[in-house]
Amino acid sequence: MTSRHRITLLPGDGIGPEITAVTRQLLDAVSAQHGFELVYDEQPMGGSAIDATGVPLPESTLAACRQSEAVLLAAIGSPQYDNLPREQRPETGLLGLRSGLGLFANLRPVKIFPALIDASSLKPEVIAGVDLLVVRELTGGVYFGTPRGRVEADGRVRAFNTMAYFDDEIDRIAKVGFDLAAARSGRLCSVDKANVLDVSQLWRDRVNAMAAGYPTVELSHMYVDNAAMQLVRNPRQFDVLLTSNLFGDILSDEAAMLTGSIGMLPSASLGSSGPGLFEPIHGSAPDIAGQDRANPLAMVLSAAMLLRLGLGQLAAATALESAVDRVLAAGFRTGDLMAAGCTQLGCRAMGDQLLAALEA
Ligand code: IPM
Ligand code: MG
Repeated sequence: MTSRHRITLLPGDGIGPEITAVTRQLLDAVSAQHGFELVYDEQPMGGSAIDATGVPLPESTLAACRQSEAVLLAAIGSPQYDNLPREQRPETGLLGLRSGLGLFANLRPVKIFPALIDASSLKPEVIAGVDLLVVRELTGGVYFGTPRGRVEADGRVRAFNTMAYFDDEIDRIAKVGFDLAAARSGRLCSVDKANVLDVSQLWRDRVNAMAAGYPTVELSHMYVDNAAMQLVRNPRQFDVLLTSNLFGDILSDEAAMLTGSIGMLPSASLGSSGPGLFEPIHGSAPDIAGQDRANPLAMVLSAAMLLRLGLGQLAAATALESAVDRVLAAGFRTGDLMAAGCTQLGCRAMGDQLLAALEA
């Protein structure tokens, strides 16, 4: 009997629907090749959900996600929603999805594709061989801490958020970091601001306490400002970077640029049970939406992570990734990666090349 997997598809906003169409075509092809079936449940999310229902994350979308084996999200957001009250913004829907599914662990692998070594703004000798993983806490910290808000008193306005972690929230993300480091090269660098922040001191204490259980992992600590510098100075020193929610948000965009384009980076968000969420780390690029110019590769690579981590379809995941490798090696590029001597393609044509590579 062929196995069947039900996945929720969230095309979202901007370039989302375009990169989703390409990715879906590839998922259909790779699943057929590897003898399993994917059933898609497409749901509104973000700005498109605001237009259709008035809220960025309808109850029905969250319910569909909970009933599926994995969730694949393209991108959400658009400037037209930026002036809505915060609870109605697309980004709030995304945070609701992450917390609603309990996805506390966000994995953002950063790997240099040899064919793209010249696409980075950094020198090839600095980035050659970079292969690191940002493990970002995703459902706590300053993104969710209370109290938060904005008050007016004595003619002044004050706005505030709270950066807070419970010990057990730190422990569960630290465990993910240690486990992944143990399975990779064994180096774990925990990022904090313990020289200034109490919340970071607790973070450091809990991470240190866990180290004894992982004798094969070489643990180090780095302040976040130094980590930002070291990422561009010598990124090869890093294997697994363990970060809180905000620090990981910032450092993962920086790390993405090592690869030449934020259009290359996939991510996986996982909880202790239930479906994971797989999404590119880039945004919805409203400036190029609807023009067939988007780079679909980060979403295709996110689909590969979904196959591997969400569905356990390892061979299919590897096949998708190797199709991306081969298309890049053959010199095909979307506009964001374009270089002399390469062939520039739109989103759909890039999808066709990937399909051909998959079927070759
Ligand atoms: C990310 C994004 C989101 C975040 C935004 C869209 C809410 O920047 O996934 O990195 O800040 O987490
Ligand atoms: Mg971000």
